[in-house]
Amino acid sequence: MRELLSRVEIPSAGGAGHLSLYREDLSGVYPGMVRYLLLYEGWGRTLSLFSTNTYEYPPLLTVDAESAAWRAARDWEEALRSAPDRLVPAAQAVHHPPEPAAGGVLVLQGSPRPDGTCARLAMWAADAARSAGRAVEVVFVHDLEIHPCIGCYQCYNTGECTFDDDMTRLGPAIGGSSLLVVCSPVYTNTVPAGLKALIDRAQAVHAHAALLGEPVRGTRNGVLLAAAGRSGLKNFDCVRKVVGPFMENLGIRLTGEVLVDDLDRRRNVDFLPGLEGEVRRAVISSLPPAVIPGPQAPSS
Ligand SMILES: Cc1cc2nc3c(=O)[nH]c(=O)nc-3n(C[C@H](O)[C@H](O)[C@H](O)COP(=O)(O)O)c2cc1C
Repeated sequence: MRELLSRVEIPSAGGAGHLSLYREDLSGVYPGMVRYLLLYEGWGRTLSLFSTNTYEYPPLLTVDAESAAWRAARDWEEALRSAPDRLVPAAQAVHHPPEPAAGGVLVLQGSPRPDGTCARLAMWAADAARSAGRAVEVVFVHDLEIHPCIGCYQCYNTGECTFDDDMTRLGPAIGGSSLLVVCSPVYTNTVPAGLKALIDRAQAVHAHAALLGEPVRGTRNGVLLAAAGRSGLKNFDCVRKVVGPFMENLGIRLTGEVLVDDLDRRRNVDFLPGLEGEVRRAVISSLPPAVIPGPQAPSS
């Protein structure tokens, strides 16, 4: 059972959010186990900012779960009051597959961490494209249900995947976008599992286009934004080798790339001079010319 310990309101430009600290009795799991959860509720989302349980703390340690939780609650309250837009506003992120937006910009945020570096890069990318007057969707890939590809090749018979999950709607959105931005952290030298599942399943998008005998409709350019904990651009070799062919297979030209390394040490990309500008420029310079609607027939 969850008991509310504190709840504070944090005003922000996108509307007020609430920072809540809960205490949860997990003695059914282990004797005496208690978990503390710090949640932020706002913009239609609930983000887990911190959680800790009493079993993490050996008896001789001077800190315990409860004091660590209250400390985290105070730190987050201070951080959010001084920068309320620090968390990614929900208006910029959808957690369900979007409707195909022909000619729009689609940003695939591939990190499982909703408030990590890739979420930040995705937000900057989306904001740049929006400022240029484009329709933008940001998808948090790990919030979707995407079954891994099983290599049945049925998609080359029918143009459709055998699985009906979130990829059913996301596939056409990928195929219909004019700019695809992929944000990926480096996980064991490559992309995280959820993003890899999406990439493999995009084979059905290729199959659909191949069976129709036409290139993937409307898709033109692609941008890769990637983040690595270790230092050195070599850490991105495999991510580039995965994302490059994924785009190529869908008729997308990789026209922009921003690789941010050494994040184990540098940690917060907000403090990396010039990075936001670099991301924005990569997106803006990759935007294909906007399709200008033809003249409307006069109404009688
Ligand atoms: C499971 C896992 C595997 C990782 N593997 C690597 C790696 O092979 N090379 C590397 O440079 N960083 C690696 N990292 C560090 C992440 O790339 C780094 O923390 C990145 O900034 C995370 O991005 P995010 O904040 O958007 O989640 C790994 C992190 C995790 C959680």
